[in-house]
Amino acid sequence: MAKGIGKETKSAIKSAKKTKKTATKTTKLAVFIPCEVVDGETRVAGTPETIKNLVQHGLAVYIESGAGECASISDQAYIQAGAVISKDTHALYASVDIILAVNPPTLSQLSSVKAGASWISLGDVHAYSSDLLSTLLEKKITFFSMHGIPRISKAQSMDALTSQANIAGYKAVILAAQELGKIFPLMMTAAGTLHPAKVVVLGAGVAGLQAIATAKRLGAVVEASDVRPSVKEQVESLGAKFIEVPFDKDAEAQGGYAKGASPEFLKRQAEEVSKRVAQADVVICTALVPGKKAPTLVTEAMVQSMRSGSVIVDMAAAQGGNCALTAPGKTVVVHGVKIIGVNNIPATVPVHATQVYACNVLAFLLHLVHAGVLKVDLTDEITAGSLVTHNGKLVRGEP
Ligand code: NAI
Repeated sequence: MAKGIGKETKSAIKSAKKTKKTATKTTKLAVFIPCEVVDGETRVAGTPETIKNLVQHGLAVYIESGAGECASISDQAYIQAGAVISKDTHALYASVDIILAVNPPTLSQLSSVKAGASWISLGDVHAYSSDLLSTLLEKKITFFSMHGIPRISKAQSMDALTSQANIAGYKAVILAAQELGKIFPLMMTAAGTLHPAKVVVLGAGVAGLQAIATAKRLGAVVEASDVRPSVKEQVESLGAKFIEVPFDKDAEAQGGYAKGASPEFLKRQAEEVSKRVAQADVVICTALVPGKKAPTLVTEAMVQSMRSGSVIVDMAAAQGGNCALTAPGKTVVVHGVKIIGVNNIPATVPVHATQVYACNVLAFLLHLVHAGVLKVDLTDEITAGSLVTHNGKLVRGEP
């Protein structure tokens, strides 16, 4: 991440000199927010507002210089909120109690982290490498994954999956609108009528519902499909049409997530969806089943049936894609259809994605910290759901 030279940097360097001393001297719980190291990541785990709140709660907050730059947050803004800015990342990893991040630790980051420290970030338990898990266990890192926070009302303010999926659902439609050579709304002009775009949304969870709402606001005609019967009403309340397929019994697992659908359902669904996809200008793919590869809902034949110039945004790209032709992290044109396999859509909206993620992290941390001590209470369902490793043991919070 680029770092500017100037007044801000000078003050950061001054703070950095003090950091090591302060971090070791203080009896306050010390929290560190590093720069994200994953390619393309623009979000950061704290904003001046959340830092101010942590400081008011008696925590000492250290931030790596430049950590907020991609989310338009300057070092100076963090300093004003009460944080200490430092470039001495190694010293901070080695001394702080808690690291707040967007992404799970890399092996290189973990090599610097103090044994027994806590790491709080997103992180799908199904995607961890065995090397990462064994290092977390060896160093007795307490790793909380925001992915595992249960979908219950008292944890709504901590629900980072929802906050990020909401933003991603919105942006997926904007990406499609940008790439489509047509406008979304109906326009009746003296030069003729422009028909509204037809959008099909596959998967109507958090991201899908936001995609439906956004496409409707832009004036498109929207249809959606899901395996969970409870979704029909939500889709219709947004003004979209639900693609009717006789449902499987018990398609919904605990917490509102989908179970894998039966082959019979998927066959019936494919017949209905393929008719809509052939007519669609835009297909937004959001269908996921926790712990499994994303279901393939758009086959090559379906892509071939679409009009040239149509657009597919596959939000499930990182989990294998809902479209058989998706290239994760890339945009490809196949049979004249543009297939966008963008991996980290929230990172394309860094300011707001950071604002809501930082609020989720703040709410979660304040839930865990009592009287200046981070408590790991396994009888608490929020703690138990999100805890992956603790004290050298694998707890594994499953979504
Ligand atoms: P998700 O990202 O795991 O899945 C996205 C959608 O894909 C889901 O609606 C799922 O049913 C659908 N899907 C799976 N297989 C499919 C297939 N073959 N065809 C079509 N669609 C398919 O789910 P997400 O968005 O994270 O949330 C799922 C649900 O969790 C929500 O709709 C809600 O019921 C619940 N939830 C509850 C919250 C709370 O109570 N605080 C907060 C957020 C979500």
